[in-house]
Amino acid sequence: MGKVLIKNGRVVTAVDDYVADVLLDDGKIEAIARTLDVDDAELHDASGLLLMPGGIDAHVHMETPMGGGIETCDTFETGTVSAAFGGTTTIIDFAQQFKGEGPKQALDRRLAAAEPQCCVDYAFHVILTDVSASALAELPDLVNTEGVSSFKLYMAYPDVLMVDDADIYRTMRKVGAHGGMVNLHAENGVVIQALIEEALAAGNVSPKYHQLTRPQLMEGEAAHRVIRIAELAEVPVYIVHLSAKESLEAVVEARDRGIHAFAETCPHYLFLDDTKYDQPGFESAKFVMTPPLRDLECQGALWRGLRFDDLQLVATDHCPFCFNEKAHGILKSKQPGKDDFSKIPNGAPGVEFRLPLLFDGGVKSGRINLNRFVQLTSTAPAKMFGLFPQKGTIAVGSDADIVLFDPEKRHVLSADTHHSNVDYSLFEGREVQGKVSKVFLRGQLIVDGDAWRGRAGMGRYYKRAASGRIM
Ligand code: URP
Ligand code: ZN
Repeated sequence: MGKVLIKNGRVVTAVDDYVADVLLDDGKIEAIARTLDVDDAELHDASGLLLMPGGIDAHVHMETPMGGGIETCDTFETGTVSAAFGGTTTIIDFAQQFKGEGPKQALDRRLAAAEPQCCVDYAFHVILTDVSASALAELPDLVNTEGVSSFKLYMAYPDVLMVDDADIYRTMRKVGAHGGMVNLHAENGVVIQALIEEALAAGNVSPKYHQLTRPQLMEGEAAHRVIRIAELAEVPVYIVHLSAKESLEAVVEARDRGIHAFAETCPHYLFLDDTKYDQPGFESAKFVMTPPLRDLECQGALWRGLRFDDLQLVATDHCPFCFNEKAHGILKSKQPGKDDFSKIPNGAPGVEFRLPLLFDGGVKSGRINLNRFVQLTSTAPAKMFGLFPQKGTIAVGSDADIVLFDPEKRHVLSADTHHSNVDYSLFEGREVQGKVSKVFLRGQLIVDGDAWRGRAGMGRYYKRAASGRIM
């Protein structure tokens, strides 16, 4: 692989901000200096551009089966092209254990699907749905040998994905002893199921009932409960897609007592609110993700959480289903829930828009500074999930995953121009300031303005070190 010299970029990391030349060689950052001159290097002028570490999206669901033949509509290839155009050079997806299956088998299945397709680097969290003695016995090897140091458990979706509190405790004890961490989908699944049954019995079938049957209180209850379980197990704990002020309060309270409780939120909770469910007809099915969008008070609380590090990172939970059946078939669309909100596939797209949204609505609007922006989108996920310092920063010896970002360029977010398979955007028509200009993956140019220069299969699987050991 040839040398690449990027001249005059404004290097921004979680702590630094200075103008320099950066030399990439053999996939790594070779040198950073005020001025570098190298005869045989490919030159890129980054004057006026931010030079930042590639984004790391710690929560995505590419070509993910959801039961009953339903599957997310991005393949590993289309989803990672979309990620790259959004400045994300590493994704952490999920390997879900089917009931009766061993977790290693689940990981191997996902590795086989991802390997020929991924266009950016990737890793997996393993989802456990069947916490049997034999599954538990496999976990130390997954952490120590396979590089999977985070395990997702669901407190929601009874009879499908949900595990009980004892299994959460057992998993925490098992993986915690080896440097692993448990990630929780924190919602009280059985109460929510009762609310869903009540709504359906009363004939309430429209998408708005997705929101009405998943109250903030039940997210807060589950977050509080699982943090207490982690406290007992003496391990760190991580809440995925935190959306409600009630669950944030549980995290803040625990952190104030010195408990290692961590959480992510997602752009849709920061920029959209529950009035999206007031649209007529089936339109609001586009916004059926779990947890649902919350009110403006929650939005304010989430921004405060990001500012004061009660929330540690922003991930997308990219879980795309087309709105219409036409593009990729009914099973990759929202249409199975046309007459019953409880059958709408849960999830929404977003992997391409995380950086521009957070830059525009976070940095430009004065809610967070530029270093915090890099921290939330790259450095914190790398540290949280055992990828740092190989990834997540601009430093000599780190992977040359680099985003050149134009902080002035305005553009409109739209499904007409994004690169995902999905046929709509949560942010359709929103104008933002700040656009990805070029992206390098381990020193190779993969995005050059609007042109794609990468290829399927060039992404590498990363074995991760310990998760959640951020002190
Ligand atoms: O609605 C969502 N978030 N779907 C994906 C599965 C999950 O809960 O993360
Ligand atoms: Zn998810």
